Amino acid sequence: MAREPGASEHDVLHAEFIASAVDAASLPAPTLAEIAFAGRSNVGKSSMLNALMQRRGLVRTSSTPGCTRGINLFEARTRNGLRLHLVDLPGYGFAKRSKQERVSWGALIERYLLERPTLRAAVIIVDARRGLEEDDAQLLEFCAQPRPGNAPLSTIVAATKMDLLPKAKRKPALDAIRAAAAKEVAREGSAIRSVVGFSAETSEGREPLWRALERVVAGTVAPSEQDRP
Ligand code: GTP
Ligand code: MG
Repeated sequence: MAREPGASEHDVLHAEFIASAVDAASLPAPTLAEIAFAGRSNVGKSSMLNALMQRRGLVRTSSTPGCTRGINLFEARTRNGLRLHLVDLPGYGFAKRSKQERVSWGALIERYLLERPTLRAAVIIVDARRGLEEDDAQLLEFCAQPRPGNAPLSTIVAATKMDLLPKAKRKPALDAIRAAAAKEVAREGSAIRSVVGFSAETSEGREPLWRALERVVAGTVAPSEQDRP
């Protein structure tokens, strides 16, 4: 089929908010394949979802950490017919909430990651300037564990806010994140599919990230496949 000039097969032709769940019971029934977006508070998860879906204000973003509460599900359909749920998770490492609230959030997210049958991958988002931090490594480890009754999760590491790094520092930053993630893989036996540089400001990395999501959903990559540059 002919494409208009400049159009991408990953243009999102339809995007909508589906549901916001604050406990397992309020999650919608599992239907489409789901991809979860996780990362430290304020790292840019919600902005990444807007950039991926090419929508400015569909997902709420804020410069105040702790903006996203609960598990927010969006449906996206691309020009080439991929239909997915993209799932915005609350950030971790946020100290201002009450301990009680953090504990229950943790339990909700952990259950979601382990028990959601349609969940295929977790995109672990790190700040390109800070690299892979302890919390991120712990999440990688968590995602590598077996999911009783469900297929194992793929993990994709996305280094966002690349626009805030001077050009000369971008490749070294990505190389360092790739090396740190590979070390985790070796330690945990987990499978990192890809390490992608991203910017919600410039949409850099949007195409490689969509391609990585597509590979995960199509199941065309063996779980043990190594990161490809
Ligand atoms: P919580 O839901 O609070 O955990 O935050 P979040 O991870 O969803 O982050 P959010 O997308 O709300 O963005 C946090 C701040 O970072 C906002 O001020 C965004 O404008 C900014 N931001 C996000 N992505 C980028 C990026 O790629 N480049 C730049 N320069 N700023 C970004
Ligand atoms: Mg958010």
